[in-house]
Amino acid sequence: MQQDQFVDVQNSYGRCLQSGHFIQRFYEIFMDSHPDVRKAFANTDMGRQRHALRRGISNAILYGGGHTLVQRVIEETADLHSRRGRAPIPPFLYDYWMESLIQAIRECDPRVTPQLEQRWRDALAPAIRLFIERY
Ligand code: HEM
Repeated sequence: MQQDQFVDVQNSYGRCLQSGHFIQRFYEIFMDSHPDVRKAFANTDMGRQRHALRRGISNAILYGGGHTLVQRVIEETADLHSRRGRAPIPPFLYDYWMESLIQAIRECDPRVTPQLEQRWRDALAPAIRLFIERY
């Protein structure tokens, strides 16, 4: 069977980015979602971080679609977020990450539906699962 490439999710991501404030809005929601999130980014240059996440989400959707080309970069991000990495992220924070992302999508994609939200969750689940496994 052919892999699901999550074209609908890629298109939704395109609409979100076109809104011009998607990544910024995501970080506002995410920072307010749990005190540990704001602490984790205390010394981060958020301008640089917004660019990194913009790419990070793209790569995570591709990884969810089974693209082997992004395997390495996703593994590097998993290492970065592991206990031994530069930015260790305890697994429970991924729920806050996902819920904040869904909230930002609801605000920024004019064509969002509950079905599409579920597709986003399905697309990002493999990357999140790997990050948690490698913690
Ligand atoms: C699937 C979810 C996530 C993805 C795809 C992701 C992606 C990334 C990427 C690509 C970087 C590297 C930035 C660079 O090039 O230096 C990064 C850094 C970082 N991420 Fe995540 N991340 C995720 C979840 C989280 C969560 C849940 C937190 C919790 C607070 C978090 C906190 C951080 C921090 C603190 C950094 C380092 C920032 C710095 O360099 O100061 N990330 N993330």
